[in-house]
Amino acid sequence: MNVTIIGTGYVGLVTGTCLAHIGHKVVCVDNNSSKIEKLKKGIPHIFEDKLESMIKENILKRRLVFTCNIEEGVKASEIIMIAVGTPSQNNGDVDLRQVDSAAEEIGKYINGYKIVVNKSTVPVGSTDRVKEILMKNMKDRKVDFDVVSNPEFLREGTAVYDTMCGDRIIIGSNSEKAINIMKELYKPLNIQCFVTKPESAELIKYASNTFLAVKISYINEIANICEKIGVDVSEVAEGMGMDRRIGSKFLKAGIGFGGACFPKDVNGLIKIAESNNCEMRLGKSALEINEEQRLKPVTILKKIYGNLNNLRVGILGLAFKAGTDDVREAPSLYIIKELSRLGVKICAYDPIAMPGFGYYTNEPVALYSSIYETVKDCDAVLVLTEWESFKEMNLRRVKRLMRGDILIDGRNIFKVERMRAVGFRYYSVGNGETSFESSRKDDFKKIKSECKKIPLVSPVI
Ligand code: UGA
Repeated sequence: MNVTIIGTGYVGLVTGTCLAHIGHKVVCVDNNSSKIEKLKKGIPHIFEDKLESMIKENILKRRLVFTCNIEEGVKASEIIMIAVGTPSQNNGDVDLRQVDSAAEEIGKYINGYKIVVNKSTVPVGSTDRVKEILMKNMKDRKVDFDVVSNPEFLREGTAVYDTMCGDRIIIGSNSEKAINIMKELYKPLNIQCFVTKPESAELIKYASNTFLAVKISYINEIANICEKIGVDVSEVAEGMGMDRRIGSKFLKAGIGFGGACFPKDVNGLIKIAESNNCEMRLGKSALEINEEQRLKPVTILKKIYGNLNNLRVGILGLAFKAGTDDVREAPSLYIIKELSRLGVKICAYDPIAMPGFGYYTNEPVALYSSIYETVKDCDAVLVLTEWESFKEMNLRRVKRLMRGDILIDGRNIFKVERMRAVGFRYYSVGNGETSFESSRKDDFKKIKSECKKIPLVSPVI
């Protein structure tokens, strides 16, 4: 099938490449000519596992082309996907300007039956909104079309895998013809399709992201309780996750959720609720908890030092999670802003997110090209992204290079015993043993060793 994708961000570029990979002929359109020129050479402007090799392979097989010419893109395909950015405005409303302008262009150049697909995360009612814009821009031309809501569920860092092996494909449409064509498009992926009304499809996306954000804030609240009572949240989460109704995923406590999706989409759902005279209380709480949680490393530093002025702090990890170069809404941005306000000298390193970092902050941060250069002479080191290279770093070397001994692990990637053996004062999230507040910290080791002494017996059946 011929497919055109408008927008070559994480969603558009990955979707286009994967559709080409399963045999479709794909045209990717973007109005940023420097991005398109690089893409024509097979070089993506984003980091995503396996993406570059797939782009190169599909360009060679002539299944994937890139252009800035939207007219060419619209005329080339029967299926046109809108995969442009839908950022939050200052008041939390979704900014639909890029979607509107893509729809205007499609309307101008439409030359036969088309299925226009909303891939971007757009509020309930956007399928109708796109329909109206198309009709307005088609003027008097009589051309048949359908608009379908087909939200995306890929995660940055594992976007190719999620697209090729997702749990479900949501198709929101009232047109039998469009539904059948969409099913045909995705058939090679062999993923179950769930067909529903456009409004339900739109809401499924927001409700899913908000549910996952609530799950993270929930475990972060449990983590804070764990710290007070002196237990380890990872054990609590493991036990909870064994119940299949709860599931073990998205129960990792840490410095909260970031990225271009969760914060924006929870806000989006709050707004959708408001415009329908409802209140999304759980979403509001999830955001509130997250705001506090992402500053946890700063709170710990304040408790240790009181005054942070002139402290030298090394930050390992700027990306909002491992596997991506994206720093949008990353906890690192908020932590750096607050540390900078408090007079801290900040050194930082990230294996791949440093080039784009400058677009998102004006704070004075010295960027280094390795872990070891970053931590040199630091009073404290904060681990803010769970990169493999941080898990494997030479801890003794880090400790030797630092002038202090504080290591705050915002992602719980280290074992307490190991960190103690190296000589760190180690703080993680939700572990009573490493928490500042736990009144039972000393009991912790005793409880653990007593647990080990309990003899294992066969269950009585
Ligand atoms: C999220 C959803 O997971 C995707 O399904 C969705 O398609 C995407 O948003 C989107 O709307 O486009 P993404 O933001 O790329 O994907 O990354 P996630 O892996 O979901 O992580 C989001 C944030 O939650 C990260 O900051 C991560 O560190 C944090 N997180 C995740 C936790 O703190 N704990 C967890 O257990 C899991």
